[in-house]
Amino acid sequence: MNAQPKPALSPAELDAFWMPFTANRQFKANPRLLARADGMRYWTVDGREVLDAVAGLWCVNAGHGRREITEAVTQQLNTMEFAPTFQMGHPIAFELANRLAAIAPPGMDRVFFTNSGSESVDTALKIAIAYHRARGAGQRTRFIGREKGYHGVGFGGMSVGGMVNNRKIFGSSMVPGVDHLPHTLDLGHNAFSRGLPHWGAHLANELERLIALHDASTIAAVIVEPIAGSAGVILPPVGYLKRLREICDKNDILLIFDEVITGFGRTGKPFAAQSFDVTADLMTTAKGLTNGAVPMGAVFAQRKIYDAFMQGPENAIELFHGYTYSAHPVACAAALATLDIYEREGLLTRAATLAPKWEDAVHSLRGAKNVIDVRNYGLIGAVELDSRAGKPGARGFDVFLKCFERGVMVRQTGDVIAMSPPLIIEEKQIARIVETLTEVIRDTD
Ligand SMILES: Cc1ncc(COP(=O)(O)O)c(C=O)c1O
Repeated sequence: MNAQPKPALSPAELDAFWMPFTANRQFKANPRLLARADGMRYWTVDGREVLDAVAGLWCVNAGHGRREITEAVTQQLNTMEFAPTFQMGHPIAFELANRLAAIAPPGMDRVFFTNSGSESVDTALKIAIAYHRARGAGQRTRFIGREKGYHGVGFGGMSVGGMVNNRKIFGSSMVPGVDHLPHTLDLGHNAFSRGLPHWGAHLANELERLIALHDASTIAAVIVEPIAGSAGVILPPVGYLKRLREICDKNDILLIFDEVITGFGRTGKPFAAQSFDVTADLMTTAKGLTNGAVPMGAVFAQRKIYDAFMQGPENAIELFHGYTYSAHPVACAAALATLDIYEREGLLTRAATLAPKWEDAVHSLRGAKNVIDVRNYGLIGAVELDSRAGKPGARGFDVFLKCFERGVMVRQTGDVIAMSPPLIIEEKQIARIVETLTEVIRDTD
Protein backbone atom coordinates (compact mmCIF):
# COMPACT_ATOMS: atom_id res chain seq x y z
CA MET A 1 0.00 0.00 0.00
CA ASN A 2 1.12 3.54 -0.70
CA ALA A 3 0.90 4.39 2.99
CA GLN A 4 3.31 7.32 3.01
CA PRO A 5 1.78 10.61 1.87
CA LYS A 6 3.87 12.30 -0.82
CA PRO A 7 5.47 15.61 0.16
CA ALA A 8 3.67 18.76 -0.93
CA LEU A 9 4.84 20.35 -4.18
CA SER A 10 6.42 23.80 -4.40
CA PRO A 11 4.54 26.43 -6.49
CA ALA A 12 7.07 26.09 -9.36
CA GLU A 13 6.48 22.35 -9.50
CA LEU A 14 2.79 22.93 -10.18
CA ASP A 15 3.34 24.96 -13.35
CA ALA A 16 3.87 22.33 -16.06
CA PHE A 17 0.65 20.33 -15.61
CA TRP A 18 -2.12 22.12 -17.54
CA MET A 19 -4.99 20.76 -15.54
CA PRO A 20 -8.23 19.60 -17.21
CA PHE A 21 -11.56 21.24 -16.37
CA THR A 22 -9.80 23.20 -13.62
CA ALA A 23 -9.38 26.83 -12.64
CA ASN A 24 -5.58 26.40 -12.96
CA ARG A 25 -4.58 29.71 -11.34
CA GLN A 26 -6.92 29.29 -8.39
CA PHE A 27 -5.79 25.70 -7.88
CA LYS A 28 -2.08 26.42 -8.14
CA ALA A 29 -2.37 29.30 -5.67
CA ASN A 30 -4.08 26.98 -3.21
CA PRO A 31 -3.59 23.35 -4.28
CA ARG A 32 -5.79 20.49 -3.15
CA LEU A 33 -3.43 17.54 -3.49
CA LEU A 34 -4.55 14.00 -2.78
CA ALA A 35 -1.91 11.45 -1.83
CA ARG A 36 -3.65 8.18 -1.05
CA ALA A 37 -7.05 6.57 -0.76
CA ASP A 38 -8.75 3.67 0.93
CA GLY A 39 -12.42 2.67 1.18
CA MET A 40 -14.52 5.83 1.37
CA ARG A 41 -11.59 8.13 2.06
CA TYR A 42 -8.78 10.11 0.54
CA TRP A 43 -5.84 11.57 2.43
CA THR A 44 -4.27 14.83 1.33
CA VAL A 45 -0.50 15.27 1.00
CA ASP A 46 -0.46 16.77 4.49
CA GLY A 47 -2.24 13.76 5.91
CA ARG A 48 -5.74 15.20 6.25
CA GLU A 49 -8.64 12.75 5.82
CA VAL A 50 -11.32 13.57 3.22
CA LEU A 51 -14.56 11.64 2.81
CA ASP A 52 -15.19 10.90 -0.87
CA ALA A 53 -18.76 11.89 -1.73
CA VAL A 54 -18.26 11.61 -5.49
CA ALA A 55 -16.50 8.25 -6.03
CA GLY A 56 -13.46 10.10 -7.35
CA LEU A 57 -15.25 11.41 -10.42
CA TRP A 58 -18.26 9.08 -10.50
CA CYS A 59 -16.02 6.07 -11.13
CA VAL A 60 -14.77 4.43 -7.92
CA ASN A 61 -18.04 2.62 -7.30
CA ALA A 62 -16.51 -0.17 -5.17
CA GLY A 63 -14.51 2.26 -3.06
CA HIS A 64 -10.79 2.91 -3.05
CA GLY A 65 -7.82 0.62 -2.61
CA ARG A 66 -9.46 -2.62 -3.72
CA ARG A 67 -6.69 -5.17 -3.39
CA GLU A 68 -8.23 -7.66 -5.85
CA ILE A 69 -8.03 -5.09 -8.62
CA THR A 70 -4.43 -4.23 -7.78
CA GLU A 71 -3.52 -7.90 -7.79
CA ALA A 72 -5.31 -8.61 -11.07
CA VAL A 73 -3.59 -5.66 -12.74
CA THR A 74 -0.18 -6.65 -11.36
CA GLN A 75 -0.60 -10.22 -12.48
CA GLN A 76 -1.66 -9.13 -15.95
CA LEU A 77 1.31 -6.77 -16.25
CA ASN A 78 3.62 -9.60 -15.25
CA THR A 79 2.02 -11.98 -17.78
CA MET A 80 1.38 -9.85 -20.86
CA GLU A 81 1.37 -6.06 -20.63
CA PHE A 82 -0.08 -5.48 -24.08
CA ALA A 83 -1.62 -7.37 -26.94
CA PRO A 84 -3.25 -5.91 -30.05
CA THR A 85 -6.91 -6.48 -30.76
CA PHE A 86 -6.71 -5.50 -34.44
CA GLN A 87 -6.83 -8.83 -36.30
CA MET A 88 -5.57 -10.50 -33.09
CA GLY A 89 -7.15 -11.23 -29.73
CA HIS A 90 -6.48 -12.32 -26.17
CA PRO A 91 -8.79 -14.44 -24.03
CA ILE A 92 -9.74 -12.05 -21.25
CA ALA A 93 -11.08 -9.49 -23.74
CA PHE A 94 -13.67 -12.08 -24.80
CA GLU A 95 -14.27 -13.15 -21.21
CA LEU A 96 -14.93 -9.55 -20.21
CA ALA A 97 -17.33 -8.96 -23.13
CA ASN A 98 -19.27 -12.07 -22.09
CA ARG A 99 -19.38 -11.00 -18.45
CA LEU A 100 -20.65 -7.55 -19.44
CA ALA A 101 -23.25 -8.98 -21.81
CA ALA A 102 -24.56 -11.06 -18.89
CA ILE A 103 -25.39 -7.97 -16.79
CA ALA A 104 -26.49 -5.74 -19.69
CA PRO A 105 -30.07 -4.72 -20.49
CA PRO A 106 -31.97 -7.21 -22.68
CA GLY A 107 -30.36 -7.95 -26.04
CA MET A 108 -27.33 -5.70 -25.56
CA ASP A 109 -24.85 -8.52 -25.87
CA ARG A 110 -22.26 -7.10 -28.25
CA VAL A 111 -19.49 -5.00 -26.72
CA PHE A 112 -16.95 -2.65 -28.34
CA PHE A 113 -14.10 -1.50 -26.07
CA THR A 114 -12.74 2.04 -25.80
CA ASN A 115 -10.63 3.92 -23.25
CA SER A 116 -12.98 6.62 -21.96
CA GLY A 117 -16.49 7.94 -21.95
CA SER A 118 -15.68 10.40 -24.73
CA GLU A 119 -14.38 7.62 -26.93
CA SER A 120 -17.43 5.50 -26.14
CA VAL A 121 -19.71 8.31 -27.28
CA ASP A 122 -17.86 8.95 -30.52
CA THR A 123 -17.77 5.20 -31.14
CA ALA A 124 -21.53 4.88 -30.63
CA LEU A 125 -22.23 7.79 -32.98
CA LYS A 126 -20.04 6.23 -35.66
CA ILE A 127 -21.67 2.82 -35.20
CA ALA A 128 -25.09 4.46 -35.62
CA ILE A 129 -24.17 6.07 -38.93
CA ALA A 130 -22.40 2.96 -40.23
CA TYR A 131 -25.31 0.76 -39.15
CA HIS A 132 -27.82 2.67 -41.22
CA ARG A 133 -25.45 2.67 -44.18
CA ALA A 134 -24.96 -1.10 -43.86
CA ARG A 135 -28.75 -1.43 -44.14
CA GLY A 136 -28.92 0.76 -47.23
CA ALA A 137 -30.02 3.92 -45.39
CA GLY A 138 -26.80 5.91 -45.79
CA GLN A 139 -28.72 9.20 -45.80
CA ARG A 140 -29.48 8.78 -42.08
CA THR A 141 -26.61 10.86 -40.73
CA ARG A 142 -28.25 13.36 -38.39
CA PHE A 143 -28.12 13.18 -34.61
CA ILE A 144 -30.50 14.54 -32.04
CA GLY A 145 -28.92 15.39 -28.68
CA ARG A 146 -30.35 17.41 -25.82
CA GLU A 147 -29.77 20.81 -24.27
CA LYS A 148 -27.52 20.60 -21.20
CA GLY A 149 -26.38 17.13 -22.29
CA TYR A 150 -22.77 16.16 -21.65
CA HIS A 151 -21.22 13.47 -23.79
CA GLY A 152 -17.52 14.06 -23.30
CA VAL A 153 -15.00 16.16 -25.13
CA GLY A 154 -14.58 14.60 -28.58
CA PHE A 155 -15.97 16.58 -31.50
CA GLY A 156 -18.88 14.14 -31.85
CA GLY A 157 -19.72 14.15 -28.16
CA MET A 158 -19.44 17.93 -27.93
CA SER A 159 -21.71 18.35 -30.93
CA VAL A 160 -24.53 16.21 -29.60
CA GLY A 161 -24.01 17.63 -26.13
CA GLY A 162 -25.71 20.80 -25.05
CA MET A 163 -23.15 22.57 -22.88
CA VAL A 164 -23.09 26.28 -23.54
CA ASN A 165 -19.33 26.62 -23.01
CA ASN A 166 -18.63 24.03 -25.69
CA ARG A 167 -21.03 25.65 -28.11
CA LYS A 168 -19.64 29.12 -27.42
CA ILE A 169 -15.98 28.20 -27.89
CA PHE A 170 -16.02 25.30 -30.35
CA GLY A 171 -19.35 25.91 -32.05
CA SER A 172 -17.93 26.56 -35.50
CA SER A 173 -16.06 23.24 -35.50
CA MET A 174 -18.95 21.02 -34.53
CA VAL A 175 -20.23 18.01 -36.43
CA PRO A 176 -22.93 19.26 -38.81
CA GLY A 177 -26.50 18.03 -38.89
CA VAL A 178 -27.18 17.93 -35.16
CA ASP A 179 -30.30 19.22 -33.45
CA HIS A 180 -31.29 19.24 -29.79
CA LEU A 181 -34.25 18.31 -27.63
CA PRO A 182 -35.13 20.66 -24.79
CA HIS A 183 -33.68 19.70 -21.41
CA THR A 184 -36.00 18.50 -18.66
CA LEU A 185 -34.89 20.69 -15.76
CA ASP A 186 -37.80 22.82 -14.56
CA LEU A 187 -37.70 24.07 -10.98
CA GLY A 188 -41.05 25.81 -11.42
CA HIS A 189 -42.79 22.47 -11.76
CA ASN A 190 -40.39 20.01 -10.19
CA ALA A 191 -38.32 21.61 -7.41
CA PHE A 192 -37.69 19.26 -4.47
CA SER A 193 -39.17 16.24 -6.25
CA ARG A 194 -38.16 13.06 -4.49
CA GLY A 195 -36.78 10.69 -7.10
CA LEU A 196 -38.06 11.18 -10.62
CA PRO A 197 -40.12 14.32 -11.23
CA HIS A 198 -43.70 13.79 -12.32
CA TRP A 199 -43.98 16.76 -14.63
CA GLY A 200 -42.36 16.79 -18.05
CA ALA A 201 -42.88 13.49 -19.92
CA HIS A 202 -44.44 15.54 -22.71
CA LEU A 203 -41.05 17.14 -23.39
CA ALA A 204 -40.15 13.92 -25.20
CA ASN A 205 -42.78 14.81 -27.80
CA GLU A 206 -40.42 17.55 -28.99
CA LEU A 207 -38.66 14.73 -30.79
CA GLU A 208 -41.67 14.47 -33.08
CA ARG A 209 -41.33 18.15 -33.90
CA LEU A 210 -37.64 17.68 -34.80
CA ILE A 211 -38.53 14.64 -36.91
CA ALA A 212 -41.15 16.68 -38.72
CA LEU A 213 -38.53 19.38 -39.33
CA HIS A 214 -35.69 17.18 -40.58
CA ASP A 215 -37.62 14.11 -41.77
CA ALA A 216 -37.07 10.77 -40.07
CA SER A 217 -35.20 9.44 -43.10
CA THR A 218 -32.25 11.77 -42.33
CA ILE A 219 -31.88 10.94 -38.63
CA ALA A 220 -29.47 8.24 -37.44
CA ALA A 221 -29.88 8.41 -33.69
CA VAL A 222 -31.05 10.21 -30.60
CA ILE A 223 -28.56 10.35 -27.74
CA VAL A 224 -29.39 11.22 -24.13
CA GLU A 225 -28.06 10.54 -20.67
CA PRO A 226 -30.81 8.69 -18.75
CA ILE A 227 -29.72 10.93 -15.84
CA ALA A 228 -27.57 13.88 -16.82
CA GLY A 229 -24.69 14.43 -14.40
CA SER A 230 -22.32 17.08 -15.63
CA ALA A 231 -24.95 19.78 -16.18
CA GLY A 232 -25.92 19.43 -12.53
CA VAL A 233 -27.89 16.18 -12.15
CA ILE A 234 -31.01 16.36 -14.29
CA LEU A 235 -33.53 13.57 -13.86
CA PRO A 236 -35.86 12.19 -16.52
CA PRO A 237 -39.53 12.90 -15.76
CA VAL A 238 -41.60 9.75 -15.19
CA GLY A 239 -42.46 8.28 -18.61
CA TYR A 240 -40.09 10.54 -20.56
CA LEU A 241 -37.55 7.91 -21.62
CA LYS A 242 -40.29 5.43 -22.59
CA ARG A 243 -41.81 8.07 -24.83
CA LEU A 244 -38.45 8.73 -26.51
CA ARG A 245 -38.13 5.00 -27.09
CA GLU A 246 -41.59 4.80 -28.69
CA ILE A 247 -40.93 7.71 -31.03
CA CYS A 248 -37.54 6.29 -32.06
CA ASP A 249 -39.10 2.89 -32.75
CA LYS A 250 -41.85 4.39 -34.85
CA ASN A 251 -39.32 6.22 -36.98
CA ASP A 252 -36.54 3.64 -37.23
CA ILE A 253 -34.18 5.93 -35.32
CA LEU A 254 -31.60 4.42 -32.97
CA LEU A 255 -31.73 5.39 -29.31
CA ILE A 256 -28.37 5.78 -27.56
CA PHE A 257 -28.20 5.93 -23.77
CA ASP A 258 -25.04 7.51 -22.45
CA GLU A 259 -24.57 5.60 -19.21
CA VAL A 260 -21.04 6.75 -18.48
CA ILE A 261 -22.07 7.92 -15.01
CA THR A 262 -25.24 5.89 -14.48
CA GLY A 263 -23.68 2.53 -15.36
CA PHE A 264 -22.45 -0.06 -12.88
CA GLY A 265 -24.88 0.23 -10.03
CA ARG A 266 -25.30 3.97 -9.56
CA THR A 267 -29.09 3.84 -9.96
CA GLY A 268 -29.70 0.62 -8.03
CA LYS A 269 -29.56 -1.73 -11.01
CA PRO A 270 -26.51 -2.50 -13.16
CA PHE A 271 -27.63 0.18 -15.64
CA ALA A 272 -30.18 3.01 -15.56
CA ALA A 273 -31.91 1.41 -18.54
CA GLN A 274 -32.90 -1.41 -16.19
CA SER A 275 -34.00 0.97 -13.44
CA PHE A 276 -36.23 2.81 -15.91
CA ASP A 277 -37.23 -0.30 -17.87
CA VAL A 278 -36.31 1.24 -21.20
CA THR A 279 -33.71 -0.38 -23.39
CA ALA A 280 -31.62 1.56 -25.86
CA ASP A 281 -30.03 0.31 -29.08
CA LEU A 282 -26.56 1.43 -28.08
CA MET A 283 -25.24 2.19 -24.62
CA THR A 284 -22.03 4.02 -23.77
CA THR A 285 -20.13 3.29 -20.57
CA ALA A 286 -16.74 3.89 -18.91
CA LYS A 287 -15.85 5.07 -15.36
CA GLY A 288 -17.24 2.34 -13.03
CA LEU A 289 -16.25 -0.37 -15.52
CA THR A 290 -12.81 -0.66 -13.91
CA ASN A 291 -13.64 1.12 -10.65
CA GLY A 292 -11.54 3.96 -12.08
CA ALA A 293 -8.36 1.93 -11.65
CA VAL A 294 -7.42 1.78 -15.34
CA PRO A 295 -8.96 3.90 -18.12
CA MET A 296 -11.51 1.89 -20.08
CA GLY A 297 -14.86 2.36 -21.79
CA ALA A 298 -17.32 0.04 -23.48
CA VAL A 299 -20.13 0.50 -25.99
CA PHE A 300 -22.91 -2.06 -25.73
CA ALA A 301 -24.91 -2.79 -28.89
CA GLN A 302 -28.07 -4.71 -29.56
CA ARG A 303 -27.25 -7.88 -31.43
CA LYS A 304 -29.27 -6.72 -34.46
CA ILE A 305 -26.82 -3.85 -34.85
CA TYR A 306 -23.76 -6.07 -34.79
CA ASP A 307 -25.45 -8.54 -37.13
CA ALA A 308 -26.17 -5.80 -39.67
CA PHE A 309 -22.42 -5.34 -40.09
CA MET A 310 -21.69 -9.04 -40.58
CA GLN A 311 -22.01 -9.14 -44.33
CA GLY A 312 -19.74 -8.79 -47.36
CA PRO A 313 -16.49 -10.69 -47.87
CA GLU A 314 -15.46 -12.59 -44.73
CA ASN A 315 -11.93 -11.22 -44.76
CA ALA A 316 -13.09 -7.59 -44.92
CA ILE A 317 -13.07 -5.38 -41.81
CA GLU A 318 -16.74 -4.70 -41.03
CA LEU A 319 -16.35 -1.59 -38.86
CA PHE A 320 -13.52 0.75 -39.76
CA HIS A 321 -12.95 1.87 -36.19
CA GLY A 322 -10.94 1.00 -33.08
CA TYR A 323 -8.25 2.17 -30.69
CA THR A 324 -4.76 0.79 -30.14
CA TYR A 325 -5.81 0.24 -26.56
CA SER A 326 -9.30 -1.20 -27.21
CA ALA A 327 -9.60 -4.11 -24.74
CA HIS A 328 -6.16 -3.41 -23.31
CA PRO A 329 -5.28 -6.52 -21.29
CA VAL A 330 -4.51 -4.57 -18.12
CA ALA A 331 -7.84 -2.74 -18.34
CA CYS A 332 -9.64 -6.04 -19.00
CA ALA A 333 -8.00 -7.56 -15.92
CA ALA A 334 -9.05 -4.55 -13.83
CA ALA A 335 -12.61 -4.73 -15.17
CA LEU A 336 -12.96 -8.46 -14.48
CA ALA A 337 -11.73 -8.01 -10.91
CA THR A 338 -14.11 -5.07 -10.53
CA LEU A 339 -17.08 -7.11 -11.75
CA ASP A 340 -16.12 -9.86 -9.28
CA ILE A 341 -16.28 -7.34 -6.45
CA TYR A 342 -19.54 -5.79 -7.67
CA GLU A 343 -21.16 -9.20 -7.87
CA ARG A 344 -19.75 -10.64 -4.65
CA GLU A 345 -20.68 -7.57 -2.59
CA GLY A 346 -24.01 -6.94 -4.30
CA LEU A 347 -22.89 -3.44 -5.28
CA LEU A 348 -24.82 -3.32 -8.54
CA THR A 349 -28.06 -3.21 -6.57
CA ARG A 350 -26.93 -1.74 -3.23
CA ALA A 351 -27.88 1.80 -4.27
CA ALA A 352 -31.52 0.70 -4.41
CA THR A 353 -31.34 -0.48 -0.79
CA LEU A 354 -29.71 2.75 0.39
CA ALA A 355 -31.78 5.07 -1.81
CA PRO A 356 -34.58 5.82 0.75
CA LYS A 357 -32.03 6.81 3.45
CA TRP A 358 -30.04 8.78 0.92
CA GLU A 359 -33.17 10.54 -0.30
CA ASP A 360 -34.21 11.52 3.24
CA ALA A 361 -30.70 12.70 4.03
CA VAL A 362 -30.22 14.94 1.00
CA HIS A 363 -33.77 16.30 1.21
CA SER A 364 -33.06 17.40 4.78
CA LEU A 365 -31.30 20.31 3.03
CA ARG A 366 -34.64 21.63 1.84
CA GLY A 367 -35.21 24.93 3.61
CA ALA A 368 -31.48 25.60 4.10
CA LYS A 369 -30.19 29.04 3.15
CA ASN A 370 -30.07 29.63 -0.64
CA VAL A 371 -31.13 26.06 -1.48
CA ILE A 372 -33.57 26.22 -4.40
CA ASP A 373 -33.77 22.53 -5.27
CA VAL A 374 -32.72 19.08 -4.10
CA ARG A 375 -32.64 16.18 -6.56
CA ASN A 376 -31.93 12.49 -6.04
CA TYR A 377 -32.10 9.06 -7.57
CA GLY A 378 -30.30 5.85 -6.54
CA LEU A 379 -27.05 7.04 -4.97
CA ILE A 380 -27.04 10.33 -6.83
CA GLY A 381 -27.84 13.60 -5.14
CA ALA A 382 -27.75 17.27 -6.04
CA VAL A 383 -28.36 20.47 -4.15
CA GLU A 384 -28.96 23.54 -6.27
CA LEU A 385 -28.12 26.92 -4.77
CA ASP A 386 -29.46 30.25 -5.82
CA SER A 387 -26.79 32.06 -7.85
CA ARG A 388 -25.21 35.24 -6.52
CA ALA A 389 -26.35 38.22 -8.58
CA GLY A 390 -24.13 38.47 -11.67
CA LYS A 391 -21.81 35.69 -10.42
CA PRO A 392 -23.13 32.30 -11.51
CA GLY A 393 -21.14 29.46 -10.00
CA ALA A 394 -19.40 31.56 -7.33
CA ARG A 395 -21.52 30.35 -4.44
CA GLY A 396 -21.27 26.72 -5.61
CA PHE A 397 -17.47 26.99 -5.83
CA ASP A 398 -17.24 28.43 -2.31
CA VAL A 399 -19.36 25.58 -0.98
CA PHE A 400 -17.18 23.02 -2.77
CA LEU A 401 -14.00 24.57 -1.31
CA LYS A 402 -15.38 24.78 2.21
CA CYS A 403 -16.64 21.19 2.11
CA PHE A 404 -13.14 20.08 1.11
CA GLU A 405 -11.59 22.13 3.90
CA ARG A 406 -14.00 20.44 6.32
CA GLY A 407 -13.12 16.97 5.04
CA VAL A 408 -15.76 16.11 2.42
CA MET A 409 -15.11 16.03 -1.32
CA VAL A 410 -18.20 16.94 -3.38
CA ARG A 411 -18.44 18.03 -7.01
CA GLN A 412 -19.59 21.43 -8.18
CA THR A 413 -21.04 22.44 -11.52
CA GLY A 414 -22.17 26.03 -11.53
CA ASP A 415 -24.27 26.42 -8.41
CA VAL A 416 -25.16 22.76 -8.19
CA ILE A 417 -23.40 20.54 -5.67
CA ALA A 418 -23.45 16.97 -6.96
CA MET A 419 -22.88 13.83 -4.93
CA SER A 420 -22.33 10.27 -6.13
CA PRO A 421 -20.53 8.39 -3.35
CA PRO A 422 -18.92 4.98 -3.70
CA LEU A 423 -21.64 2.33 -3.51
CA ILE A 424 -20.02 0.88 -0.36
CA ILE A 425 -21.09 3.94 1.63
CA GLU A 426 -22.51 3.38 5.14
CA GLU A 427 -25.35 5.33 6.73
CA LYS A 428 -23.06 7.18 9.13
CA GLN A 429 -21.03 8.42 6.17
CA ILE A 430 -24.20 9.62 4.43
CA ALA A 431 -24.99 11.55 7.60
CA ARG A 432 -21.48 13.02 7.73
CA ILE A 433 -21.71 14.25 4.11
CA VAL A 434 -25.07 15.90 4.67
CA GLU A 435 -24.07 17.41 8.03
CA THR A 436 -20.98 18.95 6.50
CA LEU A 437 -22.92 20.30 3.55
CA THR A 438 -25.60 21.71 5.87
CA GLU A 439 -22.99 23.54 7.96
CA VAL A 440 -21.11 24.83 4.94
CA ILE A 441 -24.27 26.12 3.26
CA ARG A 442 -25.27 27.80 6.52
CA ASP A 443 -21.85 29.48 6.70
CA THR A 444 -21.76 30.61 3.05
CA ASP A 445 -23.29 33.90 1.94
C1 LIG B 1 -22.54 11.18 -19.54
C2 LIG B 1 -21.08 11.31 -19.84
N1 LIG B 1 -20.64 10.97 -21.06
C3 LIG B 1 -19.34 11.05 -21.37
C4 LIG B 1 -18.42 11.50 -20.46
C5 LIG B 1 -16.98 11.59 -20.84
O1 LIG B 1 -16.23 10.63 -20.20
P1 LIG B 1 -14.64 10.77 -20.15
O2 LIG B 1 -14.31 11.93 -19.28
O3 LIG B 1 -14.19 9.44 -19.59
O4 LIG B 1 -14.17 10.95 -21.56
C6 LIG B 1 -18.84 11.85 -19.18
C7 LIG B 1 -17.87 12.32 -18.17
O5 LIG B 1 -18.20 12.73 -17.09
C8 LIG B 1 -20.22 11.78 -18.86
O6 LIG B 1 -20.69 12.16 -17.66
